[in-house]
Amino acid sequence: MATPLRLGIAGLGTVGAGVVKIIQGHADLLQMRTGREITISAVSARSRSQDRGVDLSGYDWEDDPVALAQRDDVDVFVELMGGEDGPAKAATEAALAAGKDVVTANKAMLAIHGQALAEAAEAKDLCLRYEAAVAGGIPVIKALTEGLAGNQIDRVMGVMNGTCNYMLTRMQDAGLDYQTVFAECEELGYLEADPTLDVGGIDAGHKLAILAAIAFGAKVNFAGMEIEGIESITIDDIEQAADMGYRIKLLGVAQMTGRGLETRMSPCLVPDNSPLGQLEAATNMVVLEGDQVGTVVMRGAGAGEGPTASAVMSDIVDLARGTRLTTFGVPASELKDVRPARSATPAPYYLRMELMDKPGALAKISAVLGDAGISIDRMRQYGHEAATAPVLIVTHKATRTALDEALGAMDTTGVLASKPVAIRIENV
Ligand code: HSE
Repeated sequence: MATPLRLGIAGLGTVGAGVVKIIQGHADLLQMRTGREITISAVSARSRSQDRGVDLSGYDWEDDPVALAQRDDVDVFVELMGGEDGPAKAATEAALAAGKDVVTANKAMLAIHGQALAEAAEAKDLCLRYEAAVAGGIPVIKALTEGLAGNQIDRVMGVMNGTCNYMLTRMQDAGLDYQTVFAECEELGYLEADPTLDVGGIDAGHKLAILAAIAFGAKVNFAGMEIEGIESITIDDIEQAADMGYRIKLLGVAQMTGRGLETRMSPCLVPDNSPLGQLEAATNMVVLEGDQVGTVVMRGAGAGEGPTASAVMSDIVDLARGTRLTTFGVPASELKDVRPARSATPAPYYLRMELMDKPGALAKISAVLGDAGISIDRMRQYGHEAATAPVLIVTHKATRTALDEALGAMDTTGVLASKPVAIRIENV
């Protein structure tokens, strides 16, 4: 009979407890699918006494995740603590040094240290697997590394932060402002411990950086991304966008260009009848474009106990079956150092600004846009009582460089009452 696959699980939060539940609840199913038993030798978490709704009595307890990672009775170290450095990284490195395969859900750690960790794993013929790190329950890592391995990937897009999508949808559906919805999310426990990770686009950026590495055979380069969060989106923006037939989404786009690798995570207007526009609440969506397959759209739960634990289990099941893959789909030593490129693909932009309500103000703004070679498609100044006038402009296609030039010049006109908001329109 095949020997059991023995796990050490570090981190018993929502995801860790979910993994334990699947291993206990689906023991027969997992054995049937892998031909061997999947067991847990020991676990580790910050608090031993906390009730997690699972029976941990059959497992050894380790206070120190590094000690857990090094145990002789652990074949696979399952890292579910999170955090780009600290105990998660120390224990992952210790596990690899001790010759253990690693399964993790840690997007931040992979986005920042993925290359070094992949090299450490592959130097010892070990696996570092992370299906749960990107888009929760959606099997997007498997889709890219395996299902679409016969394609040249042209573009990867996605809405990969459930909290932001929930906030934007909630603002739209209930007509609530950003601060009210943010407070609601705090109450519901939807936000990361550091909410900037969510609303600042960083969490979604980590995920896109990982997908871009796999899709384009490039070293993961989070620092080279263009990232903008949703903090400046107002209910006005949401309503104006809706009026024009668009929804605002925190959208990630990665594509290889002649100038380098474009990876950007930013709020975008997308058509409200498109799959991305229709994406509601905390759901995630990833769109993969391959030269042979065309467009593949994957949609599902991007967070939560069951979906994320489901993704962790897919890696564990692979290891139990003996499926051994490189971290990013090619040997880490062959990943290319690709130059990050600023997005140059022209797109229409939505601009919202507050202007001094005085003669010639609008003329100055349109002159600045004209000087930057940007043509105005639509413009609206809507009702107001204050001394400043809210103005909305939709441009024809423009490059981000030209737009930034125009935004810079607007600053010097003396007619802006506040910093303009610029949102790219993606007609996906
Ligand atoms: N904060 C993340 C989200 C959790 O809202 O999608 C899953 O990574």
